[in-house]
This record gives sequence, C-alpha cells and structure tokens, in this order.
Amino acid sequence: MQIKSLDELKKIRENSLKKVNLRQTGESDSPHTEILVGMSTCGIASGARETLNALVEEVNNNNLMDVKVIQVGCIGLCHSEPIVQVNRPNEKPVVYGKIDAQTGREIIKEHIINGKVLDQYVIDADFARP
Ligand code: FES
Repeated sequence: MQIKSLDELKKIRENSLKKVNLRQTGESDSPHTEILVGMSTCGIASGARETLNALVEEVNNNNLMDVKVIQVGCIGLCHSEPIVQVNRPNEKPVVYGKIDAQTGREIIKEHIINGKVLDQYVIDADFARP
C-alpha cells in the first residue's frame, strides 16, 4: 500500500488505534458473535479440537449465520484448557475454562442462542489482553 498524504497516514493511524482500544477494553464492534477457541499445544492435548468441532457443528446445526468460530493461540492458562471465549456484539467478553465438546454444545444452546452465561465455567481471563 502506498500512502499518498499525511492525512491518509493519520487516518490509518486512527483506525489502528481504534482496533487496539477495542482489544484492550474487550468490546467488539463486530456485528458478529465470535467464539474464540484456544488451540495451543496444551489446548489440543486437553481436547480443544473436539471442542472446536462440536462448536462448529452446533453453529451449523442451528444455522447461526452471524456466529464465527475462530481458532486462536493460548493465554498461558494450561490448567484451564480447553478455553473458549465468547464475544457478543457490545457485550463484555466471557471466557470459559475446561470446555469439552458437550459443554461447548451447551454454550451454543444457552449462551449463544438464549443469551444465558454459564457462570459455573467462567474464568477470569481474556484472549484480548494488551
Ligand atoms: S502452552 Fe498452555 S496455555 Fe499456552
């Protein structure tokens, strides 16, 4: 990309800062619900692949067109893997720990479809740390 003016450069800077701020506050301006699944080595060893597959399957089975399931790295909490973070538009992200395939399906049914957070699995963490 070729930057042609100072104004253009300032605009790019503003947009980048906006994205960084969104990451830091955890609020997403995405119109989509995002489900992040930690796919580090320890996550995979703990069954994250099965969790991911179950999430994708349930999203498809329920025809949830506005929900994206995204593979991400780790946040250094091996003991809580598989970790799943739900980012719903204009809501604080919710991070779940020790999510197997069955609990993943429960997240889709309760949190994604009915809007009810599964408090018993919530952990104090966030993939979007600065
Ligand atoms: S290696 Fe386990 S959380 Fe990163």
